[in-house]
Amino acid sequence: MLFPARFVDRERELEALREWCSRSRVTPLYIYGPEGSGKTRLLKEFTLRLKEYLGGDSIAVYINALEGESVENALLLSEPLQELSSIVASIVNRFAGLGLGGALATRLSSVLERIVGRARLKGNVVVVVDDVVQALGVDRVEWYVKWLHSLQWSVIENYSPKAFNVIVTTSEGVSLNRVLRHRHATMKMLWNLDWRAFRELYNHLSPPESLDYEIVWRTLGGNPGKLVELANIHNWSLGSLVHHYRERLKHIVFRVGAEGLEELLEMALEDPDSISEAGDPRMVTLESILVENNLITPMMTSLGGRPEESLELGVGRNYSWQTPMYRDVLRELLKTRG
Ligand SMILES: Nc1ncnc2c1ncn2[C@@H]1O[C@H](COP(=O)(O)OP(=O)(O)O)[C@@H](O)[C@H]1O
Ligand SMILES: [Mg+2]
Repeated sequence: MLFPARFVDRERELEALREWCSRSRVTPLYIYGPEGSGKTRLLKEFTLRLKEYLGGDSIAVYINALEGESVENALLLSEPLQELSSIVASIVNRFAGLGLGGALATRLSSVLERIVGRARLKGNVVVVVDDVVQALGVDRVEWYVKWLHSLQWSVIENYSPKAFNVIVTTSEGVSLNRVLRHRHATMKMLWNLDWRAFRELYNHLSPPESLDYEIVWRTLGGNPGKLVELANIHNWSLGSLVHHYRERLKHIVFRVGAEGLEELLEMALEDPDSISEAGDPRMVTLESILVENNLITPMMTSLGGRPEESLELGVGRNYSWQTPMYRDVLRELLKTRG
């Protein structure tokens, strides 16, 4: 596996997380954002630096709900718990169909009681459950939202920690409505990196000199995951990356065609806010297709600063393309089809 690039930027987001975790909140915090916007990386950095942010008696437990087998990948503990992760596998009996991460995510009370231990639960405690929707399936999301909420109360009652908070992430647009309609959840968005931070990451990754940063920025719109993919999988060939997504997005254009929504898609490609502004009831269907396939993101309060609106990058007030590349590829597929 390639070594992850040096962590860049995200000061405001880390500060927002610190602030959120400085006292017990009534609800878990749900972080939603484009695939590859950096949710996992941000929360792992937060876990590792927790003491710096919240003081000596604070502890964080990060669980990657998607991890099937490896304890090292499924669990990250802040100091001084780090050495304890090795005993995890022995105490977690996996539920049928759930890998190690999923089992940990659904057995948080025993993780806290048996791994962290009663004494340490007196401090400031943060639990992070990453990629929960993909791991548990969308049908279990509502149950999980409610269950986390009650877990939060029972931990506070049983252990009286200084503060106890749960942070959950998802990239799955399909889960949004199910989480949002709950009063037991607060949702914040993590958007892509801005121009400056994206350039910093770009430079760390040693791009070939022949590549023009501005073109990469206009294609990827600051999405760190896509940049890492460009460097590591496509060996800096934008053509190869775009080709890959052209193949992946063909089915969207077929589906949009079958539903007779091409014209509406053209409008959304021009300006993503036309999804909320066109006044055409069929936009609801198009919106579902684009959100469920993680191509556009409904904009909501952001964990850091609000991204600047830009028609060129497909970033609107109410909706945005997750990367300009998706929009450009769909535009091209639509044209060649017609
Ligand atoms: N702030 C950052 N600095 C450096 N690399 C980052 C940053 N944010 C994300 N990355 C890298 O981009 C890739 C995708 O990030 P990840 O956190 O997995 O996205 P998400 O969880 O939102 O899908 C990873 O390789 C990650 O290390
Ligand atoms: Mg992730």
